Amino acid sequence: MKRTLIDTDPGTDDALALLMALRSPELAVEGVTTVGGNAPVRQTTRNAIGLLEAFGCRDLPVAGGAARPLRGRYRYAYDFHGRGGLTVRLPRPVMGPRRLPAHLFLLSKAYAFAGELVVVCLGPLTNIARAIRAEPRFRQMVKELVVMGGAVQTPGNVTPYAEFNTYNDPEAAQAVMDCGVPVTLVGLDVCRQVLLTRADLPRLEVNDGATHLLGDMMANWFRLHPEKAAYDLCDPLAMAATIEPGVLVTETRHVRVVTEGSERGRTVAVDGRGHVRVATTVDVERFFSLFWARTLGGA
Ligand code: RIB
Ligand code: CA
Repeated sequence: MKRTLIDTDPGTDDALALLMALRSPELAVEGVTTVGGNAPVRQTTRNAIGLLEAFGCRDLPVAGGAARPLRGRYRYAYDFHGRGGLTVRLPRPVMGPRRLPAHLFLLSKAYAFAGELVVVCLGPLTNIARAIRAEPRFRQMVKELVVMGGAVQTPGNVTPYAEFNTYNDPEAAQAVMDCGVPVTLVGLDVCRQVLLTRADLPRLEVNDGATHLLGDMMANWFRLHPEKAAYDLCDPLAMAATIEPGVLVTETRHVRVVTEGSERGRTVAVDGRGHVRVATTVDVERFFSLFWARTLGGA
């Protein structure tokens, strides 16, 4: 059982990953922290709580986090995820976020589960970087960081060089790569190999409420993007790698994140002297077996 905290910016793929996590007996989800990214953090926090309540999970604490990166501002992804960060309107959340800011909530869980906490990072890494700055013993307290981010041997999705999460806070991404905690970096190099298509949509239209909501969300997404044939399952792949690390093949590298100029947000794998396990290939069949089993509710 992995003691898990999920840092997220829902976001349609974040929503899929959240349901996978809640339906995976391998994970003990101890809380959710939110960050700006796909939408402003007030919206991603509302989305996270709304999704958890829609999934029948009202007792999981949610702590709101960074409204802006360590430097500059987030570039929101309304064009991709829809105006509110999701392509479905959720009922107004009943619960509110915790008063503790996300990075301190993360540290409180790291203290509680000394050395055992795994943090799954599905958005810009600002909250994690703030936690690293706040706690010099961070590397002794967190077991692993599974990060959806980066594009090492493949073009970016925001610029030709940069993936959205590292583009939105490259300084934070570099702090995470250098913090000494083992990082599993799930970048576009592998995310682009796990695609959802329109033909898959009927599988989500089952009579289970949570899955049906995600089915509506993805049907709306494809309606919003008639020009797109497929949807990259980025955050679900990072979650699958947390549940079952064997879905990925990785190479240990030091990773440099470009923070200036036209290549801002680019992730460069330098050499073998680092703590970053860069995902190079994915077992696509094994991923989808896990994705459908957990999204559709079978354990
Ligand atoms: O580049 C894809 C990543 O950026 C995903 O986490 C998506 O949700 C967006 O946050
Ligand atoms: Ca995300």
